[in-house]
Order: sequence, then C-alpha cells, then structure tokens
Amino acid sequence: MYSIGTILLYALAAEIFRRCCLILLAAFTGPLSKIPGPMIGKFTSWPWLIQCVKGNQMNIGPGLFQKYGDVVRVGPADIMFRDKATITKILIDEDFRKSHDYETVREDPNVASLITETDKVKYKQKRRLLSPGFSIGYLNGLEPLMHECLQVFKKVLDGRCRDAGGYAVIDMNRMLGNLTSDVMSAASFGGSFNLVESDDNTQKNIFNSYLRRVALDAQFPLLRHLPGVPSASSMISGLVERIVSKRRQEMEKGVMKKDILQIFVDTHNADPISFTDKHIRNEMILFMIAGSDTTSLTAAFTLLLLLNNPDKLKELTSEIDSTFPSLEDNVTFAKTQDLPYLNAAINESMRLMPIITGGIVRLVPETTILCGYEVPKDTIVSAWVSEMQRDPRIWPDPDSFIPERWLGDYKGVPADRKAFMPFSAGSRNCIGQQFALKELRLILVTLIRRYELSLVEGQSHELRVHTVPWFKQGFYNVGVKLRS
Ligand code: HEM
Repeated sequence: MYSIGTILLYALAAEIFRRCCLILLAAFTGPLSKIPGPMIGKFTSWPWLIQCVKGNQMNIGPGLFQKYGDVVRVGPADIMFRDKATITKILIDEDFRKSHDYETVREDPNVASLITETDKVKYKQKRRLLSPGFSIGYLNGLEPLMHECLQVFKKVLDGRCRDAGGYAVIDMNRMLGNLTSDVMSAASFGGSFNLVESDDNTQKNIFNSYLRRVALDAQFPLLRHLPGVPSASSMISGLVERIVSKRRQEMEKGVMKKDILQIFVDTHNADPISFTDKHIRNEMILFMIAGSDTTSLTAAFTLLLLLNNPDKLKELTSEIDSTFPSLEDNVTFAKTQDLPYLNAAINESMRLMPIITGGIVRLVPETTILCGYEVPKDTIVSAWVSEMQRDPRIWPDPDSFIPERWLGDYKGVPADRKAFMPFSAGSRNCIGQQFALKELRLILVTLIRRYELSLVEGQSHELRVHTVPWFKQGFYNVGVKLRS
C-alpha cells in the first residue's frame, strides 16, 4: 500500500512529466516548430521578456532578424515579423485585436483606456466618442495653446543664450520634453505644467515612475497583488482628480474651455455610465504619456539627424528662411503645413528613428497563414515596423538620412508610403497623429528660424527603450545661438 503522500508525489511527478512532454511536443512538432529562432525560445519567452524589461529589445531584435530572417520565434507562442506583407496583414487587412499584454496595464481590469481596450466593438465606441477632439477644426482651436507654450520656450532659450554670452549648450532631450509636456498638459490637463520655465522635473518624474511601473506590471502581473505595493495609477490619481474637479467648478461658473480635457468631461456628462470618472482619469494619463515624450523625442531625433547631416540642415534652413524672412514672422499651423523639405525631413526621421522601436503586439484570433507559416489561434505576433522601415528591399541606402526620397525617386525608387507606419496603422493607429505633426512643425520651424543650431561632438546616440526610447547617456546636447 502506498501512503497518501507517496501517491501525491507520484501524481505531481506525472503532471510535471506530462507538462514537459507537452512543451517538448510544442517545441519540436507544433505548427510553430518550423519557425526559426533561438533554441531557448522554443521552450520559454523569459530570456526575451527580460531583455524587454531591460529596455534592450530595440538593440537585440534587429540582430535576431539578421540571423534568422523575416520571422523569428522568441517564445513558445511569441513570433516577430518584419516583412511588409505580413505587417500589413496583421495591422490593416486582418486588423488583429490587441494582445492581452495591454489589459495587464489597466489599474482596474474592467476600466480600459483607449490604448488598453482590446475588445474591438467597445474600442470603436470609445474612439468615436473621442474622435471629435482630433478633428482638424478642433485641433486648429488648440493652436493658441501651442503658441503660448512656444512663446515661453523662446523666452527661456533666448535667456539661456544671453546668459551664456550668446552661445549656450542646451540639453534638447530635456528642453523639448518639457515643451511637449507643457503643450500636452495645456491641452489635456487644463493648464500648462510650465516645465520649460521651471525646469522642475517633479511632475515628469511622477509620470516616468508610473511608466516604469506600468512596464513592470505588464511583464510581471502578480506584482500589483503583492501587499504594500501601491498600484501604478495611485502614483498619479491625486493630481488628476484635483484638475478634473477644478474644471467642473469652472463649468458651473459658466467658463467653457475648448481643449482635450473638455472632450473627456463632456463625454462623461453625455454618458456617465459607460464613460466614468475612472475613464476620464485613465484617458488623461494616457494622453499625457502618449502625447508628450513621443513628440519631443521625434523632434530631438530630427534635430540629431539634421545636425549630423549639415547639407540637409542647410537645405531645410533655406526653405524655412524663404517662408519666414523676418524673425518676427508668425510661425503658424497654416504656414508650416506645406513646406515640402520640412515634411520630408520629419518623415525621414520617423522612418529611421521611429518611436515604436519594438514590435506592435497583436493576438491571432484564429489559425492563419503568416509569411508562409501556419500560425495557431492565440499566438502573440509582433509587427516590427521599425525593421520594415529600414528594409533594404524597400528603401535604398536604408540607414542613411535622405529626406529627398520623399520628394521624388531616390536611386529610381519612390518612397513606399505603405511601408511607412510610424503612427502604427489600421483601426488602432495613433489618434494624435495630426496633433503631433502640427506641433512638430511649429517646434522645428521655430528652432531653425530663430537659432543657429550646432553639433556638440562626442555624444553617445545609444538608446534604451521603456515604452518610448531614451538616450542612454540621459541627455542630448545641442549648441544654440540666436540668429540675427
Ligand atoms: C510624433 C509623435 C507620436 C508618435 C510617433 C506616435 C505613435 C503612436 C503609435 C505607434 C501608436 C500605436 C501604439 C500601439 O499600438 O501600441 C500610438 C497610439 C496612440 N497615440 Fe500616438 N504618437 C505620437 C503622438 C501622439 C499625440 C500627440 C497624442 C495625443 C494628443 C497621441 C495619442 C495616442 C493615443 C491615445 C494612442 C492609442 C490609440 C489606440 O490604442 O487606439 N499620440 N501613437
């Protein structure tokens, strides 16, 4: 007779054996077994996830594609793709739903923000509610907010140049981050945080800590259930609640503002059951995060590429100077909208140094063929837009900064706009795309028209990524001198 303990032990051993057999079967005989990739990826995603948490996926992913080709298996049910046809199928043609990873970053599992909604029907409703805030008419109404922030930006930069005897070295990573946070807070938090002027990073650090926690929660969902560990959003909710209640008091007094915060509050008032106070809070946090560092880094990367390609900077400066002959000319949405070289330089910068540097993650809803492989239901697939945008089969001299490719053929090849997705693509593309482009144009034209910008040698361009990329050295210095 065996004791209960011995029977349980045998049962446990049998279960472990069964699971090992299943893992081995899936690794070597399952439909994904033919997909190339590191051997460890057949058994576990952990080595890849650890690299993601360390912010290293953008540095390691390209090497994996180089070694294994267009498709790489990095986990038992985790596949990366870089070819245009598959990326188009994942994001646009099939428009796969977002993976459950997005749900893990919700504070309350039942309250999704625009970005963490994975249900297609609910997402459509939510997007329809918020879309009016991103219509061209509404965005044009936000122009004065942006101008106010840029006025402060110019005042501070002028002062820094004056104080340094005419030429100052400015950390543009920080300065532009402050500027876009001021613009975003003016638009969606009811008033500028005034970071350009104060250079006080307390508020930004709160958002950065929140982002780091969100990234950790996504990889280690159990973390949030540990006793004594505060939830990610508790780091930020007090600030948001004060702002919403101030806006409500203003509305009671009949003061009506036309900004993104107002869209959230109006949406709540129209349907308080499906768009609750928690939804307002989640959207505000999301928009602050999605709309500030994304835009500032794109502006910083564009400057970096222009400064390292002085002939391109010269070309752009001459286009801007001929549109704005005097330093006093107003830099407006309308006058910056159609500058061909400026738009080409921004596109080329977003092609070469996009903000989403890893894969855009989706879930396969039912067995399908991707890049010639049968991919079963519930496999996590990631679309590596950054790799597609550097694919030599599509872009001649893919690693060079060539704005001209957007103005006509380059080496006989026109820019393939369908292989250019810096704002993602399909139903889940960036709702703030036009907002970002308008803001980017104002920032770049203001900087280039008003200041002589110069390269500060000896800096590292190495990046790490936590949601968006960061300069590993922690700054990006640019020489700045007031132009006459
Ligand atoms: C150059 C600047 C920007 C870039 C490159 C960018 C890029 C992107 C990308 C690639 C996505 C898809 C992310 C994913 O699927 O996980 C996205 C989503 C989003 N972006 Fe942007 N973005 C920028 C600026 C902005 C701005 C200024 C706003 C707000 C005013 C904004 C709001 C959003 C929101 C709300 C989403 C979520 C949409 C959804 O999940 O359906 N973005 N953005």
